[in-house]
Parts: sequence; structure tokens; C-alpha cells
Amino acid sequence: MNSLLAEKKRRIAYQFSQSAHRYDDIAQVQLDIGFDAIQLVTGNKSGRLLDIGCGTGRLTQRLADKFQGVTGVDLATGMIEQAKKCNPAKNTKGHIDFHVADAEALPFADKSFDNVFSCMALQWCTPIQTSLDEINRVLTDQGKGVLALLSAGSMVELHKTWAKVDAVPRVNQFLSHRELVSAAIKSGFSVEEHQKTYTTWHQTAIHLLNSIRHIGANVVPETGNHRRLSRQSLAEFARIYNQDFAINGQLPLSYEVSFLILSKNI
Ligand SMILES: C[S@@+](CC[C@H](N)C(=O)[O-])C[C@H]1O[C@@H](n2cnc3c(N)ncnc32)[C@H](O)[C@@H]1O
Repeated sequence: MNSLLAEKKRRIAYQFSQSAHRYDDIAQVQLDIGFDAIQLVTGNKSGRLLDIGCGTGRLTQRLADKFQGVTGVDLATGMIEQAKKCNPAKNTKGHIDFHVADAEALPFADKSFDNVFSCMALQWCTPIQTSLDEINRVLTDQGKGVLALLSAGSMVELHKTWAKVDAVPRVNQFLSHRELVSAAIKSGFSVEEHQKTYTTWHQTAIHLLNSIRHIGANVVPETGNHRRLSRQSLAEFARIYNQDFAINGQLPLSYEVSFLILSKNI
């Protein structure tokens, strides 16, 4: 792995680890998306399921009630510690375990899972092809994958507002829905897909920025997130966001989510 990629992963893991203790209290839209994604999981219930980027394991736990054996993996050590603490094996019907692991280098043998699930995590893997290839590798021939991830158009309000404040890219660039589908096909999958928009509403621009920062999702791999914002830039950001997007005094933030159901081409 080159040093730039290693540094990017280290920052993502650090940010999410720092947020692990409060993640479940504030990541509400992620939970709504997770419930929608779980509805799509129809694979062999007696088989094994892998949840990639499981975070605190709150979705893994629900999947463990449906499947015989479930494994959650995450890049962030803090998330895995929280997942182990919050989801003791004795509370689930099936077997559950958690490990620190990278979606782009899964520590599992070929064809070792009947189902792969991943919610709101794989947009962090750039380019995405490696993680899709890994999913194909660890799935059994009859295996199914269900992925939910952010796609282009997400946080468009942030993009547009920052562009008017200054030219510094402060928001992640996401692949388009079509690009995600093409990447999955390239990795050897047949794909059923749809997209859905979720919108969160915030009282102030600071609340809105904190909704991203407090869950640990404020890393912009290309530029880093270490540049402190001046008071002046923040005030200008808030003024423009309010002027361009406020509805009845509330500020919207949109999430475009791509849902992909994957079957292996064999
Ligand atoms: C927004 S959280 C989603 C957590 C959980 N899936 C949920 O929906 O509540 C994204 C998670 O992806 C993890 N992640 C990011 N890049 C990853 C990678 N390369 N491999 C494994 N996990 C990764 C982060 O550490 C974080 O816990």
C-alpha cells in the first residue's frame, strides 16, 4: 500500500474511532438507511453473513437475529471495541463476532460467506473496485451481497455553499450511481439497483456541520481535514447556506444513497 493511501486510511480509522462512543446517539439517518438496506437481505439464512464497515455493530446485531453466523469488520479499532461492548454474543440468536479489518484486504478465505452486507461504508474505499473484488472473492458462488452507499449528489448543498465561500474542497466527491453499478458489474456481479434520497434538517449551519463531524465522517481524503476554518469563513458559510437553502428556518442536507443487490456471475 502506498504511503498516501495508508495515511488516508489512518485518518478515516482515527476519526471514526474517536466518534465510536457517541455514534449510535447521533447517526439517525444512517440508521434509517440501514433499516432500508436490511429489508433487501434475502440470502440463505442458515449461512454466514459478513457486515463490512459495521461501525458499532447495531445493524450487525439485527442481522445476527436472522442469520446463523454473522461477522462484523471495521477499519476503526474504536468502532470494533464499541461493537464488542454493545453486542455481546449471548444477546443474539446466531453467532456474532467482530474484527478490525480493511474492506480492501479482507482477512478471510475465498468463498467463506453466503451473504455480504455493507451500509454507508464503501464510499470511503477509493477506488471502489478493490473492495468489490474482495466481496466477490469471499462470497460463495450462490452468495448475495447487499450494499448501501453514498453516491454523487450527496451533500450537494455543502458543495455549492463552500464553492461560494472559497475554492477549498471540504466535501468528499462520490461516484455516480451508474459508476457504482458499472464497477460492480466489472467485479463479476449481476446487479439489481435503486437510489433513494434522504434529507436531514438542521436548526443552524453549525448543527449541520456537527452532524457530519460528530459521527467521524468529516475526513476529506484528497485534502485532509486538518485545516481549521476561520470565523469569517464559517460566518460566510452560514450566511450563504441560509440564504440559498433554508426552508421555514431549517437547513436541509441531502444524502443520495445507492442500493445494490449483487449476485455472482458463475
Ligand atoms: C458511517 S459508518 C457506518 C457504520 C454502520 N455500517 C452503520 O450503518 O451504522 C462507516 C464505517 O465504515 C468504516 N470504514 C471506512 N473505511 C473502511 C474500510 N476500508 N474497511 C472497513 N471499514 C471501513 C468506518 O470506520 C465506519 O465505522
